[in-house]
Amino acid sequence: MERRKFLTLSSLGISALSLSSFKSAKGTLRRPLVISTWDAGIEANKAAWKVLRGGGRALDAVEQGVMVTESSQNCCVGLGANPDRDGIVTLDACIMDELGNCGSVGAIERIKHPISVARRVMEKTPHVMLVGQGAQQFAVEEGFPLEEQKLSPDAKRSYENWLKKNEYKPVINIEKTQGHGPFAPNKLDTGEWNHDTIGMVAIDANGNLSGSCTTSGAGFKMRGRLGDSPIIGAGLFVDNEIGAATATGQGEDVIRICGTHLVVELMRQGLSPENACKKAVERIIKVKGTEKSKQIQVGFIAINKQGEYGGYCIQKGFNFAVCYADDKNFMEDGKYIL
Ligand code: GLY
Repeated sequence: MERRKFLTLSSLGISALSLSSFKSAKGTLRRPLVISTWDAGIEANKAAWKVLRGGGRALDAVEQGVMVTESSQNCCVGLGANPDRDGIVTLDACIMDELGNCGSVGAIERIKHPISVARRVMEKTPHVMLVGQGAQQFAVEEGFPLEEQKLSPDAKRSYENWLKKNEYKPVINIEKTQGHGPFAPNKLDTGEWNHDTIGMVAIDANGNLSGSCTTSGAGFKMRGRLGDSPIIGAGLFVDNEIGAATATGQGEDVIRICGTHLVVELMRQGLSPENACKKAVERIIKVKGTEKSKQIQVGFIAINKQGEYGGYCIQKGFNFAVCYADDKNFMEDGKYIL
């Protein structure tokens, strides 16, 4: 939509949020826009889009979006998810706004919405990260109810199988979705889909960026293990001048390269979101080596300040959900290197 028409409609009081794309010298720009990892992102995007289309802040959108996934009792995110190797579900989440504020919780137990606790850490404490019992104590003080852990049937079966087959030791995480996403029920009891994450980044009608990331982490992980998802600059990074990125997959390898910070810095140097994600994936492969990289999956997704988006992963099978209009919420396959 031309800028002149956009301004005219705005002056007539027609919501700018119905104008989800317009033309500029750089091409078609999407704004507002929300993208999120894996096919659970479709439902999460819907909740985020409700906020964005109503003129809401990207921060509220990314919180409310991933709360849907945290509530969903699937095997990979939230209280019904895969437990650690001791059978306890521990959750990690982080959130970051357009002002560079950020908050995070790690290894929190019995809390349904770690993303909202992460936001409280950001807004109500002088800190960025709270972990373990301290995070739970803070959540309770803030009025979050302590829930009973209740593994979903899939997670229970998956854990029981894992105990038998893997002889009580951590496994290397592999996320090969072949287009069906990590939540495909037929995969959950094989031990193959042993972790995942929802990461979401959004730009609102005012051009402000925010992001969120939440996970139960690696399935059957060692007790106390944190991945990339609660770490700002690894699982999530936002720079309101440039763009925002989030990650999914083997957290250890994302941490090693400060993955999402790298993606944003590459966008600062002029790369498109897709190319920035690709370079970050290449960095992981370079650090880890090609053969070892074939054993893992990492995917990055990113948006820039202009409302362009993209994603890239190590190997075939990663996809992400893109939403920029009431009738535009769809899956895109991540391009891959190996
Ligand atoms: N990316 C999620 C994790 O490794 O915990």
